[in-house]
Amino acid sequence: MTEYHFYEPADGHRLPHDPLNAIIAPRPIGWISTVAPNGARNLAPYSFFNLINYRPPLIAFSSSGWKDSVANVKATGEFVWNLATMAQADQMNMSSASVAADIDEFDLAGLDALPSLRVKPDRVAGSPVQFECRLTQLIQLENKEGGELDQWLVIGEAIGIHIDTSMLENGIYMTARPRPVTRGGGPADYFEITQDRLFKMKRPDD
Ligand SMILES: Cc1cc2nc3c(=O)[nH]c(=O)nc-3n(C[C@H](O)[C@H](O)[C@H](O)COP(=O)(O)O)c2cc1C
Repeated sequence: MTEYHFYEPADGHRLPHDPLNAIIAPRPIGWISTVAPNGARNLAPYSFFNLINYRPPLIAFSSSGWKDSVANVKATGEFVWNLATMAQADQMNMSSASVAADIDEFDLAGLDALPSLRVKPDRVAGSPVQFECRLTQLIQLENKEGGELDQWLVIGEAIGIHIDTSMLENGIYMTARPRPVTRGGGPADYFEITQDRLFKMKRPDD
């Protein structure tokens, strides 16, 4: 018989490390660029991140605390998502440094910027895919009693999508080709996505 470690999170996990983000893993990284109303640029990674709808394309990231990215999105209604790849893993990590709102994480991480076409925040140069997004909902998360948490879910609609054409093979986007970085658990685990791990499985009704 399988032995399970059962716990009720409200009472603690009784393990050396909280296993949650090692279990729901690997997670894609929302590398989010924003601008403050005064024009200060901001860039930060969020691994509580995903695509949550096709049409229109909606993406969401969640912030533990009211961080600069959330404040900027609330103030301007805009953000850009940039695909984080192995080639820029260190810079992505560097852009997570807790620095004052007026510090430009593009400069801090030594990244060049590309202008966006439909929104103010810049794109990360060298990132092979970027989504230009408009805020659709900013939701304060709650616990089961309806108590407000200092956790913020930002949902945005991608209104402009840039894809490095070298990531396309006969028009098909090749997920592993840009070598995306995804987040595992603990303080430092990441997973790279590689083509040799690909397998195919059709839905029963396809
Ligand atoms: C890979 C990675 C993933 C992260 N994911 C999140 C996340 O999902 N939510 C969050 O609040 N912070 C997350 N962080 C920490 C933020 O990036 C960090 O607090 C950053 O300073 C926030 O920047 P901002 O204040 O400019 O928005 C993550 C950091 C790294 C390196």
